[in-house]
Amino acid sequence: MRVLSGIQPTGQLHIGNYLGAIKQWIELQQENECIFFITDLHAITLPRDPKTFQKEILNTAVEYLATGLDPEKSIIFVQSQVKEHTELCWLLNTITPAAELFRMTQYKDKSQQFKKNINAGLLDYPVLQAADILLYQTDIVPVGKDQLQHLELSRIIARKFNNRFGETFKIPKAYVSKTGAKIMSLENPKKKMSKSIPSSCLFLFDEPKEIKKKIMSATTDSQKIIKYDPKKKPGISNLLTIYSLFSNKSIKDLEKKFKGKNYAEFKKSLAQLLILKLEPFRRKKKELLSREVYVQEILNKGEKRARSIAQSTITDVRQKMGLA
Ligand code: ADP
Ligand code: TRP
Repeated sequence: MRVLSGIQPTGQLHIGNYLGAIKQWIELQQENECIFFITDLHAITLPRDPKTFQKEILNTAVEYLATGLDPEKSIIFVQSQVKEHTELCWLLNTITPAAELFRMTQYKDKSQQFKKNINAGLLDYPVLQAADILLYQTDIVPVGKDQLQHLELSRIIARKFNNRFGETFKIPKAYVSKTGAKIMSLENPKKKMSKSIPSSCLFLFDEPKEIKKKIMSATTDSQKIIKYDPKKKPGISNLLTIYSLFSNKSIKDLEKKFKGKNYAEFKKSLAQLLILKLEPFRRKKKELLSREVYVQEILNKGEKRARSIAQSTITDVRQKMGLA
């Protein structure tokens, strides 16, 4: 199976990115042909500082490797370095109904949030994502729940193209983990944890002191019972989910373990667990930060391998559309 996914280089990776996406990537890379890239072209749909952008991209590459992506097993590269992504995006634009794009939740949210910068790229974002996926004849796309609508649109675009121009693209499937597909914000557990709101995040590379501070001050309700009930008790339920996923214990077992204990005791235990479990990530990142040339070489190699697959699809698409 060919597996593909990407993350925007818009800040440090957090435990939501990990539990919702990267953890699955690492499992999948053992048995499959995997392609993981850094979606810098998607990131510029919101303003970025050109002076620091290259550094942020490299930092995301370092973080990919620190979490366990293996360049021997997976193709790892930067999206903008393989120009076929933008070329296919344009070609797919010509068959994508604009109405579908205006319906996208992410577009509605982002254009609400950034009223002064509703650029065409923000609207076209899912078509570029479809191009990313279809370019590599992808079977499986491991992502968090928030990306399902974009994945569905990729499938619509692929089918439309195949119907009009003949069998060209594989129809990709989303791959979403049963738990952890939506980790909520520590500060407002009704919203998703997101890089765009740093105060919502527990970053994968936070230092122990920071982890303790963030977990101890995570928003919870005023009751004192440690019970999983996402509707009535979203804060404690989110923390239970995190605890369960990092400890491999079921939520039921955790409810039993913490019966009669107060929130502070539960949070202290969770902070300790996270400090322990995230330690290897912190160590690996520090080591990789001092090996910039090595990381850059991995990206260069990945780019070459990605391009050769991408070119073969683009050649076919051009012919099918009468452009060659
Ligand atoms: P962010 O919203 O934090 O900037 P991205 O949009 O770059 O994250 O998403 C990268 C990947 O991580 C996607 O597959 C996305 O579905 C997943 N993801 C992002 N936030 C969460 C979350 N809070 N819970 C689970 N998965 C998430
Ligand atoms: N839109 C995705 C996100 O914000 C990132 C992304 C871009 C992606 N292209 C992709 C994810 C292709 C999976 C496949 O999370």
